[in-house]
Amino acid sequence: MIRRPPRSTLSSSSAASDVYKRQELGFDYIRTDYRYSAIYENGEWNQGSLTEDDQILIHEGAPTLHYAQQCFEGMKALTTANGDVCLFRPSLNWERMNSTAPRLLLPAVPRELFLGAIEETVRANYSWIPPYGSGAALYVRPMLIGVGENLGLKPAEKYEFRVFVSPVGPYYKDSGMAMISLAVSEFDRAAPNGTGKFKAGANYAGGLLATLNAQGIGANEALYLDSANNKFIDEAGSANIVVFTKDEKFITPSSDAILPSITRRSIMELAEIELNLMTEERPIDLRSEFQNFSEMAACGTAAVLAPVGKIWFDEKWHSMPGNENSDSSVMKNLYELLVGIQRGEIEDKFGWLHSIDIGL
Ligand code: PLP
Ligand code: COI
Repeated sequence: MIRRPPRSTLSSSSAASDVYKRQELGFDYIRTDYRYSAIYENGEWNQGSLTEDDQILIHEGAPTLHYAQQCFEGMKALTTANGDVCLFRPSLNWERMNSTAPRLLLPAVPRELFLGAIEETVRANYSWIPPYGSGAALYVRPMLIGVGENLGLKPAEKYEFRVFVSPVGPYYKDSGMAMISLAVSEFDRAAPNGTGKFKAGANYAGGLLATLNAQGIGANEALYLDSANNKFIDEAGSANIVVFTKDEKFITPSSDAILPSITRRSIMELAEIELNLMTEERPIDLRSEFQNFSEMAACGTAAVLAPVGKIWFDEKWHSMPGNENSDSSVMKNLYELLVGIQRGEIEDKFGWLHSIDIGL
């Protein structure tokens, strides 16, 4: 049996309730009360349990520290209009973690452990879940790390699967649909046959300087082109890219080097089914196709769907013509559909919401 905290210990501290009133709630770590930890050793997972300890004590030789043998996931728990607490398509996060795991010689995480640990952690931190209408969410961060004593370049013999949560506001400044800018990076994010399509922390370490450089010229994020040709759009530092063209096609890059975004997959489905748009997943040549772009957006769990107002490449800014924040923009329509479903304001006819029994 998984240990659950008695209801009386569920945080009712003013820290939890006050956090949503703070205007500055952005995408920063806020310590909540419980996290979940399970250990894999001698070929099997233990059942794991909730803990209040936010520190991980690991051996100095642990492969996660030296050789980045780790991966992670990200999703949000939202309070819907009827008061339910829901995750958005969490089975796809489980599938993605288990597609990343074998590439890094990490053990697979069983579905019951993955979803059970997330549900337990969300439930135990009930009072930290932002209320409906706050615009905030409880971000859920599952992680899988190679721990234990090691020195040579080889996989760990012991692993920890951990889930922690933190209340978050918008990833980009302001609330709702913030207009962002991207700067094409001089660095490559991932090699064509590398680890770009996996949610490996190592991909992000290489992107820290790219993000800093992009911010140095006034952009929110780095935009990566494919590393083989420096031509086709891959993705942004923390989000995939979608484009609405002047000839009314809704397109997104096909690339083996980008993270298969669950948000993008959902948006492509909404564009096709709800907005009746012609959708295409194909290589997108930034320089030669840019003049045919009407709207562009970055999409992901943290980013949601953020319209891109301008892009820096070839030493200058290029503005996106159709990305006015007008009611008629395709990105605005898609944002409202996506967020409407996530908030339980629009019928979830695709069955995307996974409700958590909070047990109160
Ligand atoms: N691309 C990268 C590099 C990301 O870090 C993320 C965030 O998870 C995404 C895309 C979007 O993926 P998802 O929509 O599954 O969150
Ligand atoms: C997410 O959107 O969940 C991510 O993992 C992006 C992260 C780099 C903040």
